[in-house]
Amino acid sequence: MSKINAAITAVGAYVPEDVLTNKMLEDMVETNDEWITSRTGIKERRILKDPNKGTSYLGIKAAENLIEKSGVDPQEIDLVLFGTVTPDMPVAATAAYVATQIGAVNAYSYDLQAACSSFLFGMSTASAYIESGRYRKVLLIGADKMSSIIDYKDRATCIIFGDGAGAVLFEPNHEGLGHQDELLRTDGIGREFLKIEAGGSLLPPSEETVRNNQHYVFQDGKTVFKFAVSNMADVSEKIMLRNQLSGDDVNWLVAHQANKRIIDATSKRMKLDDTKVLMNIQRYGNTTSATLPLLLSDYEKQLKKGDNLVFAAFGGGFTWGSIYFKWAYNS
Ligand code: UT7
Repeated sequence: MSKINAAITAVGAYVPEDVLTNKMLEDMVETNDEWITSRTGIKERRILKDPNKGTSYLGIKAAENLIEKSGVDPQEIDLVLFGTVTPDMPVAATAAYVATQIGAVNAYSYDLQAACSSFLFGMSTASAYIESGRYRKVLLIGADKMSSIIDYKDRATCIIFGDGAGAVLFEPNHEGLGHQDELLRTDGIGREFLKIEAGGSLLPPSEETVRNNQHYVFQDGKTVFKFAVSNMADVSEKIMLRNQLSGDDVNWLVAHQANKRIIDATSKRMKLDDTKVLMNIQRYGNTTSATLPLLLSDYEKQLKKGDNLVFAAFGGGFTWGSIYFKWAYNS
């Protein structure tokens, strides 16, 4: 039997309708469009305003979009992986609710959390299950309602994040397309610089933690920026080297959308032309677990069978990495 590779065979996405522009943020905190655009590349983000809808709503919509586009029978899905930092509830896997709602009644499911690297690490998990031959259809969803954990009085964070979701289907491929190689890393020193301090086992919720705004995202942006720039570029360069890929060989960089300057630094190190860098940060901001599949969805028509993709991400923890992937279909 020929070697099994794990290929992406379908993509879906969803972003909520409500738009939060830089101009609107100018009325909420002391900031301005020029600062946000030049420092981050972001012009607007989407916000799920309905207080009765959680992250599962976004994930279900993205999965339904994939099912409608691809015609896959949800009953044939073996496993649903759900990358998120904003589960509907701390306990009760959001994945289980989502799988049931989309009709994946024969699947089992679980949540995956690695901050902004949740989707990238989920790609590794999904690929391993497919390559081992254990499962034939793995649905990986990345979804976050970041607006539920952002303090809209904190200009250091509220200008960056947005809500959204994306989904991809992994299936076996016998032509050598799909997952090729990966370099995934973590370093626990990072947790002081990007975190939600309260609400977990270390600091359970109390009146005091709420009063101190400790349930919102805190980020020491400067420090995270420094680590993100060097680490994301390092792993992307290394994965190219060990697969004998030059800048010319790589067709697309699919990088986590946290800051345009971080993405530019990575593509520069990889010696990539700007036209090969997938970018939609200007429209969605940082959607955490959803950035990579949202890029695939936006650029799906331009991706061609056999194209070399380098995925890269960096996030809280710290967590980061790079995956070399060959695209498997023309749409
Ligand atoms: O996705 C997970 C990983 N996260 C990341 O990769 C994010 C990494 N960090 C970043 O993207 C950037 O650090 C930020 C976009 C968060 C901030 O950009 P920066 O260029 O690092 O700005 P800074 O924090 O060094 O602040 C520069 C100046 C400061 O003023 P002074 O001290 O120079 O007078 C800030 O007070 O900009 C000020 N500032 C702002 N001004 C207008 C900070 N936030 C704002 C703001 N609007 N929203």
